[in-house]
Amino acid sequence: TQLRGVLEGMPKAELHIHIEGSLEPELIFALAARNNVALPYASVEDLRAAYAFTDLQSFLDIYYAGASVLLHEQDFYDMTAAYLKRAEQDNVRHTEIFFDPQTHTARGVPVKDVIDGIHRACQDSPVSATLILSFLRHLSEEDAFAVLEEALPYRDKYIGIGLDSSERGNPPEKFARVFARCKELGFRLVAHAGEEGPPAYIETALDVLKVERIDHGVRCLEDPALVERLAREQMALTVCPLSNVKLCVFPEMAQHNLLELLDAGVKVTINSDDPAYFGGYMNDNFIATFEALPLGLSHAQRLARNGFEAAFLPEAQKQQLL
Ligand code: ADE
Ligand code: ZN
Repeated sequence: TQLRGVLEGMPKAELHIHIEGSLEPELIFALAARNNVALPYASVEDLRAAYAFTDLQSFLDIYYAGASVLLHEQDFYDMTAAYLKRAEQDNVRHTEIFFDPQTHTARGVPVKDVIDGIHRACQDSPVSATLILSFLRHLSEEDAFAVLEEALPYRDKYIGIGLDSSERGNPPEKFARVFARCKELGFRLVAHAGEEGPPAYIETALDVLKVERIDHGVRCLEDPALVERLAREQMALTVCPLSNVKLCVFPEMAQHNLLELLDAGVKVTINSDDPAYFGGYMNDNFIATFEALPLGLSHAQRLARNGFEAAFLPEAQKQQLL
């Protein structure tokens, strides 16, 4: 249809993408062979067949297993270059990429190699790209402080700090002190909240961590006062529709609450989260959402504009990208 062409062709900003979640099974197997890493899957097909998730944790277990093939600076470069190429094809003009250093330092990979590889690929791409270092919330705040310390010598290569991994039982306030430190250091702050966790986690991400965007946030609709606040403050939610369906946050796309959020005046953006695992990149997310929900051209323009407005970029640079 005509709308599909508009969705595909419009300039987009992606604000919620985990670079380790862009590792396609083919690249996982190629890197496993290159690095002599044994995988608990016999083939690409065998691995893909395991991508039947019931909740966030069932995905994270496989996502961390996939990331085990990443050992050297060049591996991080190759992964990031492949994502940026796909993003470019989808007319993504700007992307803010999460990386999870603790997933790699735990395997003995130096933080420097992780950051250098990802950053070098960003510099070689025509897509505007910045990096957000994300703490794993299932680990301790002490561990977060340790990886921050290790990453600070390279702070000119990332602009922000995020919080991801297993949400339930790991509320934002667990990371109050390390986020306060990151704010002092001048980083932009975001956190996953209200994906599987309750609306109260969205409130503490805002009030305790002082984040400037909420990643996911779709469970805010359970608290009308919170929705009103998000709309009033024009707090951006980086919503990931295909992810939400694959991880059973919504039983199917037709039940996604993205349109209700938009109608409530919330600044919603569309993003891919972990595109290699959830069935698609940016355009796939836009198309699947627009096929399932009664959305039209004005919604498409609004969603794309929200992405640029919520980006951590100087105003003049945003204008150049449009
Ligand atoms: N890590 C990668 N993708 C994630 C998600 N959707 N939620 C929490 N942690 C993640
Ligand atoms: Zn995410």
